Amino acid sequence: MKGLMEPIKTLVSFKKGVVYPDGVNERKLNEMRGMYVDDFTFETLLSQDNPLIYEVKEINIPQEKGHIIYSTTTIYPGKVGKEYFMTKGHFHLREDTAEIYFCLEGEGYLLMQTKEGRASAIHMKPGVLGYIPPYWGHRTMNTGDREFVFLALFPGDAGHNYEIVEKHGFSKIMVEENGKPVLKDNPKYTL
Ligand SMILES: [Fe+2]
Repeated sequence: MKGLMEPIKTLVSFKKGVVYPDGVNERKLNEMRGMYVDDFTFETLLSQDNPLIYEVKEINIPQEKGHIIYSTTTIYPGKVGKEYFMTKGHFHLREDTAEIYFCLEGEGYLLMQTKEGRASAIHMKPGVLGYIPPYWGHRTMNTGDREFVFLALFPGDAGHNYEIVEKHGFSKIMVEENGKPVLKDNPKYTL
């Protein structure tokens, strides 16, 4: 029997995510250059500070077909100009793989899009499960005033394609208008 693994238990805090992660992947503002519409405000913010935008608390699961990888993501509250703090976003390298996001704490949106630029957004709050079907890229943003925490589960062999997002962006952006999140066309998006 190839790759027999012992069962494991993971403690997850609704407020803080995975309690004892095997690794924490941090994404600070300087790693998000070009992702936001307002480059001038981005550079101004960065010249003052380099805040933590989000962190992914990971458990070591083999990145192989048959396994289910899981992690929790915490996105901190904040904005670059009018645009909410968000994840970089990605498609899966194996595009025919789905993913589940389950909100544990706070409030935000799960923004998805096809390679043709068709977009869909789910309002996430505790108890909401968003299903990301195969072939849909995905990004999340914190539209609340405290930490937005969600659990992600995806096939072990899914992989991450960030380059496509770096190159083309997402077709939609989530901005604050009159104190509320509004989905708008991304002027930087290229198909
Ligand atoms: Fe994913």
